[in-house]
Amino acid sequence: MEDVVVVHGPSRLSGTVTVPGAKNSVLKLMAAALLAQGETTITNVPDIQDVWIMSDLLRRLGCAVTYDVGSATVAIDVPAELRHQADYDLVRAMRASISVLGPLIARCHVAEVALPGGDAIGSRGLDMHRAGLERMGAIIVIEHGYLTARVPGGLYGALHSFDFPSVGATENLMMAATLAEGETVIENAAREPEITDIARMLLSMGAKIEGVGSSTLTITGVERLEPTVHRVVPDRIVAGTWAFAAAITGGSIEVLGAEPDHMGVVLDKLSQAGSRVSFREDGFAITAPDRPQPINVSTLPYPGFPTDLQPFVVALNAVATGSGMVTENVFEARWGFTSELARLGAVVRLDGHHALVTGIERLSGAPVEANDIRAGAALVIAAMVADGVTEVSGAAHIDRGYEGFVEQLQSLGGLIERRPADQEAAHEQGSLKN
Ligand code: UD1
Repeated sequence: MEDVVVVHGPSRLSGTVTVPGAKNSVLKLMAAALLAQGETTITNVPDIQDVWIMSDLLRRLGCAVTYDVGSATVAIDVPAELRHQADYDLVRAMRASISVLGPLIARCHVAEVALPGGDAIGSRGLDMHRAGLERMGAIIVIEHGYLTARVPGGLYGALHSFDFPSVGATENLMMAATLAEGETVIENAAREPEITDIARMLLSMGAKIEGVGSSTLTITGVERLEPTVHRVVPDRIVAGTWAFAAAITGGSIEVLGAEPDHMGVVLDKLSQAGSRVSFREDGFAITAPDRPQPINVSTLPYPGFPTDLQPFVVALNAVATGSGMVTENVFEARWGFTSELARLGAVVRLDGHHALVTGIERLSGAPVEANDIRAGAALVIAAMVADGVTEVSGAAHIDRGYEGFVEQLQSLGGLIERRPADQEAAHEQGSLKN
């Protein structure tokens, strides 16, 4: 049985939060450390479950990993000889484990990586990772739940022209290419700020990459990379979560440690919802009207609206003063949580990859279940504008992406608590007796 988050609504959130380093960057930076023998240090590391999982994975590969939560620093000491098997028990818990594939092939010329699980938000294929590595000389077999890759003739540069700018495939191929022979070009590459962050770390390790931040990356392989020290870019999805938390609850939140330049379309949409956004030297502040205006949003690869913030748009429209259309273009099955939101009274009509959401004045508390990181966080924030008590089970999903989520919401004035599983069981027995 899992921890449950209990929210007593409604409440308006106000105060100041500080954004940590980006989950979707740090996990890949940790994988990229495998490319150089010696100690790489990563700072501004968020205290989230996935960092612990990635630390364990790197240890299994033979690294010594020291994670000092107090100083938000991870030091990864990479040996000359790496083990090359990433086991299912860790990979299943976190899809980002697949990002060790590129570095392992580049360093060891062999890799065995279990096929990932991760969030339940669509088919999330690996065909682009596979085809890309094959173009670079890898022979790949998928059997018994593992992807096994070998490069008998060594890894060489290739031209990749993506149908779709996949974040994970861009990262894996970029990392592999740093140690391949010759030039690799990735056309229609993803250009999320987290990819730029990884490219910057690779550059500081001695990699040769041109076009960083653009949709064409040109990587010229080098003989070896050196360890480095790198600070993780701020988490724009966490910053966006707090911005939506203000907009949904009619509150006012100052978001520090954020990089508003990475959030153009997000902050623009929040202005359309009636919120006032003002910029600070180290972030931004957002002040919302009592009830948001509805917004129409289509998710797209960066610099488009991020799919990871889509659940918050649905939650915002659920309490808006009219109807808004949300279109999901990145993960086809990211609507699972709308049926949970409907349990709080949200009016959502799904049609393929569109969701028409009609706002009502107030949601009403009910037991709901989180089944991925962002859906979990969005349900908790929606519960803040629901009358009565909402119990969100599956809280462990939220821990994968947010540090101290419940404590932060308490500090913003939310009436929220976390009940550990055993206490929850006792509570349920108690209620049955009553
Ligand atoms: C990353 C992020 C995730 C974010 C997503 C899109 C991490 C750990 N996760 O996921 O939070 O929502 O980017 O911004 O960084 N696809 C294929 N074949 C492939 C690769 C991808 O079909 O080989 C499809 C996927 O099924 C999905 C879409 O492409 O529908 C986007 O995937 P991708 O951009 O690769 O996202 P991830 O790297 O998995």
